[in-house]
Amino acid sequence: MSTLLEKAAARPRALAQSELAALLAWPDAKELFAAAYEVKSREVGRAVSFRGLIECGNVCEKNCLYCGIRKGNSKVHRYRMDAGEILREAEWAFKAGYGSLVLQSGEMTGEAHTAFIEDVLKRIHAFGGEAFGVTLSLGEQTEATYRRWRDAGAHRYLLRIETSNPELYARLHPADHSWSRRLECLRALRGCGYQVGSGVMAGLPGQTLDDLAADIMFFAEEDVDMIGMGPYIPHADTPLGHGVPWTPQAAAERLELGLRMIAATRLHLHDVNIAAATALQALDPEGREKGLLAGANVIMPNVTDVAYRADYQLYAGKPCLNENSTLCRGCLERRIAAIGETVNWNVRGDSPHWRKR
Ligand code: 5AD
Ligand code: SF4
Ligand code: FES
Repeated sequence: MSTLLEKAAARPRALAQSELAALLAWPDAKELFAAAYEVKSREVGRAVSFRGLIECGNVCEKNCLYCGIRKGNSKVHRYRMDAGEILREAEWAFKAGYGSLVLQSGEMTGEAHTAFIEDVLKRIHAFGGEAFGVTLSLGEQTEATYRRWRDAGAHRYLLRIETSNPELYARLHPADHSWSRRLECLRALRGCGYQVGSGVMAGLPGQTLDDLAADIMFFAEEDVDMIGMGPYIPHADTPLGHGVPWTPQAAAERLELGLRMIAATRLHLHDVNIAAATALQALDPEGREKGLLAGANVIMPNVTDVAYRADYQLYAGKPCLNENSTLCRGCLERRIAAIGETVNWNVRGDSPHWRKR
């Protein structure tokens, strides 16, 4: 193995930004993925943690230029699940042995929404207890809201920074969306006692390998516990994705970039949880397994009712639109067994990095 890969594997957080950029551009992708897989096996093991993903609603107050459910996309049929629907899916995930849950939706603010989520969290906690991990992915909120949801039973929060480069962020969002506010939210979440997750998209227009290397440095500086990142995939009904030519070759390149990001992040951070994002599977039927083999250790199987899945499309080619939760469970179990890994059933699967804190 080359000295740079050895250096990365030997000690966490040992690399400079330029060395991370060198990893991202590593000439032999297989060698890079194998080195990251070794570090993953040693630091977090080869058992995959599942988080059942409930897409609670696609109403969003924001207008990110890349996202299919942005407020400005009038083609989207909007929905919001009621508490009964969310609880039914949460219970399904619990009984299916998923050990944890992610509640995700477009960004909504205000007292009614805060109180609604608070109530749902308390009711999930009533049957799941401490043993059932609950992650929120509900966007930017006030610290008071984050605190209420934490007190109601949420353990973890995912809030992607999207890119650590504020200028690039500004080009991907309308003027009233703020990178610094996003960062403040991440810090507020830490202050409220959450396990904090963040992440970025790889392959954004104008993004360089140096930007991506800086993203990994950002994860280290903010000391995040979990990382969810995926390839950027153009959505035709968005300002950023409209009219962008998309070929099998473009998809393959984007997939490889996403995998390289996972591998370089594992090689630098060692003991954090890293998700193999569903967007990887949108590019390749085996995308998520490839993510696991490049260093990821978490998968978020969709447990949303099939009736809603097509309305929650952030990017083109979202998989499993017609496969129900039971089908996906069996499918994933087989796919994971096929690469020689197992599933961490019935445990929260906390980030080892967080446990060591
Ligand atoms: N391609 C890939 N990921 C996307 N997201 C939103 N739109 C896209 C897209 N077109 C991601 C963002 C957001 C997460 C919920 O989905 O990173 O944080
Ligand atoms: Fe809303 Fe999130 Fe999509 Fe932005 S990325 S438009 S905040 S759902
Ligand atoms: Fe849904 Fe394979 S994960 S069908």
